[in-house]
Amino acid sequence: MRLVALWSVFSVAAAFLAATAQAENTVPAADSYKKAAQADVQFLQTRLGELAQKQAAGENLLQGHIKPALGVALLLAAYGDALGDSTLKGEALKIIEAINAKKFQDANALAKNLTVKPGQPGKLDALPKPLQPDAMLEAAMNPYRLSKVGGLNIEKDIRDMIKGNNPLKIEPTAVEVLAIRTAVLSAYAFHYPNPEAQKTPADKKQWEKWSLESMELSHQLAAEAAKGSTADEMKMKKLLTSINNTCNQCHEKYRD
Ligand code: HEC
Repeated sequence: MRLVALWSVFSVAAAFLAATAQAENTVPAADSYKKAAQADVQFLQTRLGELAQKQAAGENLLQGHIKPALGVALLLAAYGDALGDSTLKGEALKIIEAINAKKFQDANALAKNLTVKPGQPGKLDALPKPLQPDAMLEAAMNPYRLSKVGGLNIEKDIRDMIKGNNPLKIEPTAVEVLAIRTAVLSAYAFHYPNPEAQKTPADKKQWEKWSLESMELSHQLAAEAAKGSTADEMKMKKLLTSINNTCNQCHEKYRD
């Protein structure tokens, strides 16, 4: 009797430890955030340079070019928290304000001075809310768009890496950055169910579940990809497939 009781206490403790260890494992390394931050600073500098130039020349500015810039600035603001880089966060928020005011010269000047200087790594839990709620969801989804229409090509890259015929190579360096972006975009999306997903409490729960799943799978993907040349390709492919499923499920129910 006693032995059984002792054993069950032990196995509960073991399960708890295993769960905690797993939870810790799936938090991306600060270095992964740093790589994503560097890539996104580069994207934002290029994009805002182009927008500033077009605005100065009196050319028409496309929403498909503006909104991904907002989304990427949101990413940088969140990375600022994850990296303990409050300057990065503050400057990214100023850039969002300038983009919103259509002041692309100002946004461009601010972006040129962006730097990534990690401090004491922190948590992502209090994401900034610099835009109206409906604009937040749009900004969080826009980086997923094709690069030929101004996005970061994330959706297509995911689909190309998991397709059966002539798939895109699963390159850990690229996947690490993709996974961090997807994790943080999903974390933002969690907070902004669209009107369809606000019809009933069950809808809101479903929305949150898919966002959270997408975020957690992306954390696992970032952790695997961060192993570099020893990363498990099959595992990454499985995770990419599961992430793609959460995107599709949510779109089918709430977007289309
Ligand atoms: C929890 C629900 C949900 C999840 C998860 C989700 N999306 Fe979306 N997505 C939406 C909704 C709703 C819209 C429409 C937003 C709007 O009205 O602007 C959207 C829009 C988009 C758009 C179009 C953006 C535009 O304005 O042209 C793309 C591309 C996209 N999502 C890609 C993805 C990818 C890739 C994933 C997974 C990594 C994903 N989404 C995960 C709900 C979701």
